[in-house]
Amino acid sequence: MKKSTTILAIESSCDDTGIAVLRKEGDSVEVLASLVTSQDIHAATGGVIPEEAAKEHLRVISPMVTAVMGDARVGKEDIDAIALTVGPGLMPSLAIGVQAGKVLAYAWDKPIVPVHHIEGHVYSALLMGKQEFPALAVIISGGHTMLIKVDNYLSYTILGQTRDDAVGEVFDKVARMLGLGYPGGPKVSALAIKGNPNAYDFPRPMEHSHDLDFSYSGLKTAVLYQIRDIGDAIIEEDRANIAASFQQAICDSVAGKIKHALTQGEYKSILFAGGVAANTALRDRIAEIADNKRILLHVAPRELCGDNAVMIGQAGVYAYEAGRLESWKDVDAVARISIEKFSLH
Ligand code: KG4
Ligand code: ZN
Repeated sequence: MKKSTTILAIESSCDDTGIAVLRKEGDSVEVLASLVTSQDIHAATGGVIPEEAAKEHLRVISPMVTAVMGDARVGKEDIDAIALTVGPGLMPSLAIGVQAGKVLAYAWDKPIVPVHHIEGHVYSALLMGKQEFPALAVIISGGHTMLIKVDNYLSYTILGQTRDDAVGEVFDKVARMLGLGYPGGPKVSALAIKGNPNAYDFPRPMEHSHDLDFSYSGLKTAVLYQIRDIGDAIIEEDRANIAASFQQAICDSVAGKIKHALTQGEYKSILFAGGVAANTALRDRIAEIADNKRILLHVAPRELCGDNAVMIGQAGVYAYEAGRLESWKDVDAVARISIEKFSLH
C-alpha cells in the first residue's frame, strides 16, 4: 500500500483565515478541501486593524475547521499533523491561528509542522509543474517583496527584499490617493487598462543599484505629488493614466531586479507568487523574461495568490516528510522571522 501524508493546514497571518486539508501520496499533492474567509471589515478603514482582524479570525476559525474536515471527509484519526503559519505577520492575527492549531494538536495528540508564511507562497508556485532547481522565487504581496534562491525543496536564501514599502502596500496606497477602495491592487490594475502607461515618467526605484533590494517610497511620493499637481482639475483620464504609468514603473522595477538576479546564478526556473502575482501586467512581463531566457516559469494560480491555507499545507507536507515536527508545547507565533531559519541547508 502507498504511504500517504494527510495534513490540516491553518493560515491567519493577516486578514484572511485559511483552513485546508491536503494529502500527499508519492509526488502528488491533492487538496481534499479548502476554505478562505477574507475579512471585509477593513474596507472602511482602508487598511487592516490588527485587533479587529484577530477578532474575526477567532469568530470564524473553529466552524471553518469543522466545515473543511467535513468537506474533505476526514476525521482526526486521518490527520498526520497540523501545519501552521507561525510567522511572519500581524501578531494578534497569527496568535489566533497558532493557538487554534496548538489546541487541536493537544486534543488530537498530533505533531505541529511550523510553516513560514513566505515559504507557503513559494510552494503555491513551486508545485505548479515540473520542479527544476535552483529556482528564483519572486514573492510579491501586501507585506513582502522578495527575491529568494530556492536550491531545492525547503532550501531558501534571501537575495533581496524591499527596504521600505512592499509592492502590494504601494498599490493599496496609490488606490487610496486615487479614491479607489481597499484592497487597491485589483482596482488600480483595472483602471490602468484604460490609461496610457507612458503618460507620466515615474521613477523606477533602485534601477541602478547593484544589489537586489527594492524601495518604493520614492515612487509612492512621486505619484502623490503628481495627483496634488493636477489638483481638483483631475479627470477620469488622468486617473487612468496615473494608474497605468504607476503600474508600468512597478513592472519595470521588478523586471529589472529579476533580470539582474538571473545574471548572478544558473537558474532553471522562476516562481512567481503572492497577492500581487494576480496582476496581469506583471505576470505578462515575467513570462516575457522567462521566455527570453528559456527557463521554466511557474506562477501561482490566481486563487492561491492571496493568502490561503492550501499553500501552507503544500509547504507543510514537504516539511513533514523532512521531519520538521514540533510538539504543541514548543510552537509560538512570531511577528518577524526570516525564511532562512526554515531552510534545511
Ligand atoms: O498575499 P496577500 O493576500 O497578503 C499578504 O501576505 O500581504 O497580498 C495582498 C496584496 C494587497 O496589497 C493587494 O492590493 C495586492 O496583494 N493585490 C494586487 C492585485 N491583487 C491583489 N496588486 C496588484 N494587482 C493585483 N491584481
Ligand atoms: Zn501573504
